[in-house]
This record gives sequence, structure tokens and C-alpha cells, in this order.
Amino acid sequence: MKKSVLVSGSSGQVGTCLLELSESSTQFEFDYMTRQELDLSSQESIKSVLHKPYDYIINAGAYTRVDQAEQEEELCMAINAEALKHLAQYAPANSCIIHFSTDYVYNIDPGRPILETDDTKPRSVYGKSKLKGEEYLRTSKKEHIIIRTSWVYAAHGHNFVKSMLRLGKEREELGIVSDQLGTPSYAPDIAYAVLDIIGKLESNNFDRQSSFGTYNFSNEGQTNWADFARSIFLKSDIDCRVNNISTEGFNAPAPRPLWSVMSKDKIKSQFDLKIPHWKDALDRCLKILGES
Ligand SMILES: NC(=O)c1ccc[n+]([C@@H]2O[C@H](COP(=O)([O-])OP(=O)(O)OC[C@H]3O[C@@H](n4cnc5c(N)ncnc54)[C@H](OP(=O)(O)O)[C@@H]3O)[C@@H](O)[C@H]2O)c1
Repeated sequence: MKKSVLVSGSSGQVGTCLLELSESSTQFEFDYMTRQELDLSSQESIKSVLHKPYDYIINAGAYTRVDQAEQEEELCMAINAEALKHLAQYAPANSCIIHFSTDYVYNIDPGRPILETDDTKPRSVYGKSKLKGEEYLRTSKKEHIIIRTSWVYAAHGHNFVKSMLRLGKEREELGIVSDQLGTPSYAPDIAYAVLDIIGKLESNNFDRQSSFGTYNFSNEGQTNWADFARSIFLKSDIDCRVNNISTEGFNAPAPRPLWSVMSKDKIKSQFDLKIPHWKDALDRCLKILGES
């Protein structure tokens, strides 16, 4: 019998990629739910959906409007934090929850790629809400995998790559922040890794019990937002000059971490994953968008 998988937030970047990639799955049966079908801000909605005995719950739904979260703390906390308490509470006894978190929980600079064991010091409402969600999951004692990712983009949805393609064609020059370092994460690569991980959790010769816990995931390599924009323009043949600006100068409502380069050693060795470089991922995205 096929194992059953629930995916929340199915219209989001990661949710949509999971939907597209899992279409041909012979091992799992997927139920994809939009916000209308499973509202993470509602305990009742979570409870009613979890009557079905899912083997896996992939929580791709989230409040992701980082700046707006500073004004909507209650809603952000309900979706990113309280929902995890309820998901863990109502999830069938033997189900495993796969949850996504963020580089925003760290907000530290250890002078090397960040490890999962490093301190967490989120400053924004969004970062705090994601950390609280993680904590609810960890203390629930439910089998879970938390994947902290960063700078997510895809060929669909709202993201930096699509904004740059639009703005780069409209303007001759743009000021882009250059003092935040990190690594973009291509949503199809996140989705591929998650499907690979649940496939491995189901294989007989895999040590399932030692796999639960918290992992970093992004593409390989590192960059900053200004250089990322330059790469987008170069690969897409867009003539737009990028001027470096500082995080302070940009003055966004929510504080951003300056160092978001994360080590992926743990997830790569535990699940034997090969992670593509961010430049390779960008090429694939631009090709889908017809820009290269
Ligand atoms: N985007 C990033 O740069 C980034 C960076 C680091 C970590 N992450 C994490 O990665 C995960 C996936 O992010 P993403 O980029 O795929 O996000 P996304 O594209 O913004 O999608 C979020 C999804 O959550 C849904 N959602 C919003 N409120 C909801 C609610 N009350 N109940 C159920 N679903 C709700 C949205 O539905 P509607 O469209 O209908 O509102 C959408 O389908 C999230 O956990 C996020 O925190 C993202």
C-alpha cells in the first residue's frame, strides 16, 4: 500500500514544486492543500484535516511576508508557531512531520558557514515566529525533520529573481544590498531533496531513527544580493547596472541577518544528497522562464 503524504501551503513556491515533482510517484500518495483547504491559523482546520492517518505531513505553508510581519505579529505567530503545536498535537501517532524553517533564526556570524548546533538569535518577528514553531515541534516529541532554508525562489511565485527580471527591464540601474551574504535556494531543489529524504526514510536498510532532527539546506556556494542580481542580468542579457547599497541604507522594516551562509554537511551526509551550486540552479530557472 502507498504511504500517504499531506502537503500544506500547496500554492507556494516549495508546495508547487513538490506537487509538480511528485506527480509520477509510485511510492507515495499525496494530498495537496491550499490555505483554503487547510488553514494553519485555525486549530479547527488542522484538527479536521488530520483525521486521515497520514504517514507524512510536509508543512510547506507559512507566513512569509517578512516586513509585513512586523505589523502582523499575531497572525504571523499563529501560522508559523502555534500551527506547529497543533500539527504535532493532532498528527496521527506514527506520522512524521517535515517542516521548513529559515536562516533568519540564526542571525549570528561565527566566521564560517553556520552549523545547525550554532546559537539562534532571531531579531525579526518572522524569524522569532519560525524559531518558536521549531521549538513546539521539538518539544512535542513527534518524529520530525526541520529544514532551515534561505533565499527561496522558483519560476513561479513572488521572489527576488522574478522581481529582478521585471525591474531590470524597466530601469537602467538599481541599488541592491551587498552586505548580506548567503546562498539562494531553488525551490525545485528543495522539493527534490524532501522527496528523496522521505523515500530514504521508507527504505529498509536506512537508519530512520537517527534521521530526525534539524538540518540546513540551500544550494551550494555563496553570494550577496547585489551579485545575485548581476548574475541574473548577465545570464538573461539584461542591460541594467547594479549599484551596491548597505542593509542600513535600504532600511527595510524587518531586520535581516548579514551572514546566512549555512553548512549543508549534515543533510548531505545523513541522506547522501548531492546539492547543485546556486549558479547551476539559476541557469535552470532562467531557462524555464525563457530568459537564457
Ligand atoms: N521564501 C523564502 O525566501 C524563504 C526563505 C527561508 C525559509 N523559507 C521557508 O520555506 C517554506 C516555504 O516557503 P515558500 O517560499 O514556498 O513560501 P511562499 O511561496 O510564500 O508560500 C507560502 C504558502 O503558505 C500559504 N499560507 C499562507 N498562510 C497560510 C495559512 N494560514 N494556512 C495555510 N497556508 C498558508 C500560502 O498560501 P497563499 O498564497 O494562499 O497565501 C502559500 O501557499 C516556508 O516555511 C518559509 O518560511 C522561505
